[in-house]
Parts: sequence; C-alpha cells; structure tokens
Amino acid sequence: MSDSFFRDRVAVVTGAGGTLCSAVAQDLARRGAKVVLVGRTAAKLDPVAGAIRAAGGDALACPADVTDPAAVEAVRRAAEAEFGPCSILVNGAGGNQPDAVTTTTEFDAREGGPDRPDGLRGFFDLDPARFLDVIRANTMGTVIPCRVFGLAMAREGRGAILNFASMNSYHPLTRVPAYGIAKAGVVNFTEWLAAYLAPAGVRVNAVAPGFFLNDRSRRIILDADGGLTERGARIMAHTPMRRFGEAADLLGCVAWLLDDERAGFVTGVTIPVDGGFQSASGV
Ligand SMILES: NC(=O)c1ccc[n+]([C@@H]2O[C@H](COP(=O)([O-])OP(=O)(O)OC[C@H]3O[C@@H](n4cnc5c(N)ncnc54)[C@H](OP(=O)(O)O)[C@@H]3O)[C@@H](O)[C@H]2O)c1
Repeated sequence: MSDSFFRDRVAVVTGAGGTLCSAVAQDLARRGAKVVLVGRTAAKLDPVAGAIRAAGGDALACPADVTDPAAVEAVRRAAEAEFGPCSILVNGAGGNQPDAVTTTTEFDAREGGPDRPDGLRGFFDLDPARFLDVIRANTMGTVIPCRVFGLAMAREGRGAILNFASMNSYHPLTRVPAYGIAKAGVVNFTEWLAAYLAPAGVRVNAVAPGFFLNDRSRRIILDADGGLTERGARIMAHTPMRRFGEAADLLGCVAWLLDDERAGFVTGVTIPVDGGFQSASGV
C-alpha cells in the first residue's frame, strides 16, 4: 500500500522499538513515508528497521534518549542527511516504571515508617527521583522532540505532530500517580502547542490508548497462567468492548490525524482509542 499523502515524507517515530510504535512506524512506512526510528536501545530498533526494509520501505534506526536535547538534535541531523527534513513527528516514547507505582490503592498506616512490611509501597514510600524520571520521560520526552523537529516544520509552514496520552490523562488511575501527572501534562501540552503552531501551519494532536498489552502491562494485567489479575479483571469490566487493544487498532486513527489532506482542520485534540473505557461510567 502506498498512500499519496505519506509518500516520501520523512516521519520520526519515537518509542519505535516498542509495542505500539513499532507498528505505527511500519504502518507509516507501508504508506510510503521514510521512517526514522528512535528509542534508547538499538537492539529494539534494528529489527523494526529490518522489517520495514524487507517490505520495500525506507527506515533509519537512530538510538537516542528523547529526554536529552543534544541526542535528539543529533537524530535530526542524521535524519536530514539521510532523508531530508522531517514533516511528521510521532512522540511514542514513554511509559511507566515499577519504582514509581504504589502497591496499594489507599493510605496504609504502616507506609512511610519503620514497620512497613516487605512488598508494601505506598505514596509516602516512593522515591521522588523515580517519580520525576517518569514525568521527565513522558513530558520532556515529548517536549524536546517537538522543539527539535517542530522548528523546521514551523519555518517550512507545514507538518504534523502526534503525541501519546493515556486513560490517565482524563482521570488518574489508582497506583500510578507520576504516570498520571505525566500523561495529563501531555494532553495539556498538545493543546498548548497546537494553538501556538496553528498559525505556522503545523498541527498537533494526540491519541489516548486504552489498555494494550505490552511487556510491562502484561505482568500487571495477566497472571502466570494467562488469566486476568484482579486489576486486569477490573480493567476488563470497565471496557465495554471487553477486550484489550491491539497495536493495529491505533493505526487508522494515527494515520488520519497525521494526514493534512484528511484531517487538515483538526488540531489540539486527543482521541481515545480505548474500546469505550473513557466513555463508560462503570455504574
Ligand atoms: N500499552 C498501553 O496500554 C498504553 C496505554 C496508554 C498509553 N501508552 C503510551 O503509548 C506509548 C507506547 O507504549 P507501548 O505500549 O508501545 O510501550 P513500550 O512497548 O514500553 O514502548 C515504549 C518505547 O519507548 C522507548 N522509550 C522509553 N523511554 C525512552 C526515552 N527516554 N528515550 C527514548 N525512548 C524511550 C522504549 O525503548 P527503550 O527502553 O529502548 O528506550 C520503548 O521501546 C507510551 O508513551 C505509553 O506511555 C501505552
């Protein structure tokens, strides 16, 4: 499949070695884009680049930490040298960290004190440094690529940016306070940057995936036998479509939001792709 809008456009995809954005990167390549793959681990990016090339597409793997402005600037230079200026940016890098997650959903009098049992990690036990890591990866890891790639787009007068929000962007889920702050910030920044760049012809939107299984969430949602954990069952009970998302569920929404011909008057929105989770009250 080659899609006239995407043909020969340069698309930078961060988090491209991960569950969702490896599929996004391959889909953009199938549509004809030249795709620059960004993540910290070359070993995750190389197979994605290989799959894109094997299918006849163009890909460049650029390992970098998206929270490091100099590293992202180096990606921009490498991408421009290989393919030319980027007009599409997908900010998929991010996620949570176990050390920034509580093991309890409400205050336990033993947390934060000497009698705290093994395995209990309340809000008052969290290490602020780990908390900040999650906020930095998801928020500054979005802001920094927008600065590095958005300037040339704004000067050129065209471009589209897509950020990754979450169900936590709307209402905080239990146990993940840092991730919730971070993803709420991504939506707020998406709206801010959309207004700032609209006069320059650059659109900025976001998708908010519901619950998709990845290497980390699989351990939280599924037990050793592949059944649902208690948290997994609560998620499923609150998802009207009664299933987890597959990366392929995101691709149409992502491609539509990035396409100036089909979504040229759409900017500043965050679209839930969640099987109805966000719409359901649960009662
Ligand atoms: N899966 C879900 O249910 C879900 C739901 C809502 C939102 N999301 C969001 O959707 C996006 C993709 O999620 P996913 O499920 O595909 O997660 P994933 O499989 O963990 O992929 C995320 C990728 O981001 C990269 N990354 C993390 N920190 C980075 C950094 N500082 N610099 C560069 N790359 C970094 C990681 O690679 P390295 O470790 O090699 O850098 C990883 O490959 C994330 O923003 C996530 O928060 C996911």
